[in-house]
Amino acid sequence: MSLGYLRVLTAGESHGPQLTIFVENLPAGLPVLAEDINVDLARRQKGYGRGGRQQIEHDCVEIVAGVRHGRTMGGPIAMVVKNRDWANWQGKMDIEPVADPPPPVTRLRPGHADLPGVVKFGLNDVRNVLERASARETASRVAAGALGKVFLRQFGIEVRSHVRSIGPARANTPAELELAVDGASHSWWQQVEESPIRTGDTEFESAATELIKAARTAGDTLGGIFEVIAYGLPIGLGTYAQWDERLDGRLAAAVMSIQSIKAVELGDGFANAARHGSQAHDVIDYDQERGWSRPTNRAGGLEGGVTNGMPVIVRGAAKPISTLINPLPSIDYATRQRDVAHVERSDVCVVPAAGVVGEAMVALVLADALRWKFGGDGLDEALANFRSFVAANG
Ligand SMILES: Cc1cc2nc3c(=O)[nH]c(=O)nc-3n(C[C@H](O)[C@H](O)[C@H](O)COP(=O)(O)O)c2cc1C
Repeated sequence: MSLGYLRVLTAGESHGPQLTIFVENLPAGLPVLAEDINVDLARRQKGYGRGGRQQIEHDCVEIVAGVRHGRTMGGPIAMVVKNRDWANWQGKMDIEPVADPPPPVTRLRPGHADLPGVVKFGLNDVRNVLERASARETASRVAAGALGKVFLRQFGIEVRSHVRSIGPARANTPAELELAVDGASHSWWQQVEESPIRTGDTEFESAATELIKAARTAGDTLGGIFEVIAYGLPIGLGTYAQWDERLDGRLAAAVMSIQSIKAVELGDGFANAARHGSQAHDVIDYDQERGWSRPTNRAGGLEGGVTNGMPVIVRGAAKPISTLINPLPSIDYATRQRDVAHVERSDVCVVPAAGVVGEAMVALVLADALRWKFGGDGLDEALANFRSFVAANG
């Protein structure tokens, strides 16, 4: 992934030996501990509705370059997350040729990259598609995003996520979460971290848990909507100068790129389409003590592709998981005969985990925008630039 300034590259297969992650262009002097990353890797593995893989993996990062004595040095950061499951895939996922290769996977799974992947790359084994297309890759994104969050935190910026809906069940969320500039410290977020559905609404939590339980029993799956909110952003990140530099577009692309996410909303994007203009925008106010403020945040903290000082709100809609224990009708790629889809061990609902991945993607885009605007080869230089801009424009 190349954003404006930050560079993130990942490699690794779902059942290969490890995930490998590079992050470039963070400033020197940023305090970084493996623990900062491991906390988020563990959060991605939680959530009611995950499958057996999460019992095998206990994701743990090893930082192998770019950090010395707990601080970045200004060079590329390289990280590794081992796949514990690899031990169970000896012979099937060896890097060197093997004498007795496993039979290819050929029964195509609707909703996965299987058919487009084998056709595109000229492959005859769906295994060679699904290993990289798999959302195991999101562990790499979360590791990179955790570095983005560590960087943002130095500037008082916090990125949170919670679940808004699972299937037909919807959460009731406090309206002030969208408004408060210091909403990151709201008690709601503590409840979210303790909830297996990642919500502070206990009624919704029970309803969603029951729905997931019933879907599992029926051999079916469920999707839903998560919301990411970033607090403490200054006015002025992103630009309208070119279409691909607009922060709204960058955030939408980053969240849409998460496996299974099929729609993205910024603020009240969809609801606003049904309102009159007088009810759709956020009135501007100013006073000397508070600076700029808005009584509402329907724009989701962005106007003209630029942050406006309100919390940035991004929602991602996840389709139901494609792998069904009761598989859908499909075609065998090798024979072109009708069959049912291949079944691989799978999750039933991943919306809580997808929200944690959403946090990572939003954090990377915002960290990039901050680097772009305030520069600085060292952290102190970046902070000084940030503080002088905020002081002049508060
Ligand atoms: C955290 C996370 C975990 C996922 N786990 C599974 C899974 O166990 N089984 C599955 O079929 N899809 C899973 N998915 C979704 C697939 O990876 C995704 O639907 C597939 O790669 C096709 O990509 P697309 O849905 O973006 O088109 C998961 C997605 C996320 C975000």
